[in-house]
Amino acid sequence: MLYSNKILTLEESNTLAISALAQSLKKEGKEIINLSTGEPDFDTPQAIKESAIKAINEGFSKYTAVSGIAELKSAICQKLLRDNSLSYSPSEIIVSNGAKHSLFNAFGAVLNAGDEVLIPSPYWVSYPEIAKYNQATPIFLPTTQENNFKITPQQLKNALTPHTKLLILNSPSNPTGSLYSKEELEALGEVLRGSNVWVISDEIYEKLTYSEGFTSLASLSDDLLSRTITINGLSKSTAMTGWRMGYLASKDKTLIKAIDNLQGNSTSNINSFTQMASITALSPALEREIAMMREKFRERRDFAYSQCSSIQGLSLNLPDGAFYLFINIQEAKRFGGDSMSFCKALLEEQGVALVPGVAFGVDGYVRMSFATSLEVLKRGFEKIAKFLE
Ligand SMILES: Cc1ncc(COP(=O)(O)O)c(C=O)c1O
Repeated sequence: MLYSNKILTLEESNTLAISALAQSLKKEGKEIINLSTGEPDFDTPQAIKESAIKAINEGFSKYTAVSGIAELKSAICQKLLRDNSLSYSPSEIIVSNGAKHSLFNAFGAVLNAGDEVLIPSPYWVSYPEIAKYNQATPIFLPTTQENNFKITPQQLKNALTPHTKLLILNSPSNPTGSLYSKEELEALGEVLRGSNVWVISDEIYEKLTYSEGFTSLASLSDDLLSRTITINGLSKSTAMTGWRMGYLASKDKTLIKAIDNLQGNSTSNINSFTQMASITALSPALEREIAMMREKFRERRDFAYSQCSSIQGLSLNLPDGAFYLFINIQEAKRFGGDSMSFCKALLEEQGVALVPGVAFGVDGYVRMSFATSLEVLKRGFEKIAKFLE
């Protein structure tokens, strides 16, 4: 065998077929309304950029500690205490190249071949792939629109086996936008009490919540604090997707040391001037700008939801967080709920790009990003309505 078995288990994302088609239609000169991207359309706030420029000009361009400079880890600890009622010390933090890298490190540090990873479905595309790369088995916990795409304590209980190693929670969720309440998280936490199951809490959309407050899983009890690996980053909160900054926090010293070793033998530290910029991004002074972006997202969510609800054949829940609508297309004419055919035809006939639900493990739904202007959203909905006429 020329190639590693592990690498051959990784699958190409279902979203690639749609982006390739969108690109080729654009080349032909067709107007494309792209509602498929998972990143804020805002520019990175000026104060953050200036910190990076200052760091470069001052020659802050050498290797740093693998897990990040002390000042940054201390800024992360202050943020976790301020926003999430979580008390961590800098030695319990690892800064990585985006939340995705933090997830990759965390999976790699806890999984052995044959372990089971519980993944609520629909799920963010990379969770099952990273589990498989670590020779673990993804076990999907299907959720329903009626239950607002959330797993129940009973469902979690039924899924536990002696092989269960890890549960992934992503609230607010990509792709559904659903947000677990404090009580719902507590009830899930109770099921795990007494077990050896780790939880990864992917909190990357924390700053984009529109209704009840956001709760960090690890803040709910000492038991949850000890078993939870909290993951967050700056991509979505401060419009920094391209900077590549994410971090994880854990109380487990062995885990932190293992991840430090893994990162120390692969990517080492994230780039030095992004670290300086991240200190600014995490400071309380940025909260006003973050709130302004959140209000824009809320306005777009409300607009997109009302537009979408008025189109015959589509149904959806109002998302409580993130910047996606997860739209039920099962009653739409022509496609019988086949999300890939729906997205291909919508792109070819009307030039609107959405992501098929199959990419997230469920057919019969499509994901629309509302991280774009009201004008673009309006035009997109006009075209979708025409498509379904
Ligand atoms: C649920 C979820 N987790 C993690 C990530 C990764 O974000 P980052 O840019 O920090 O790697 C994304 C990005 O789309 C996401 O949607």
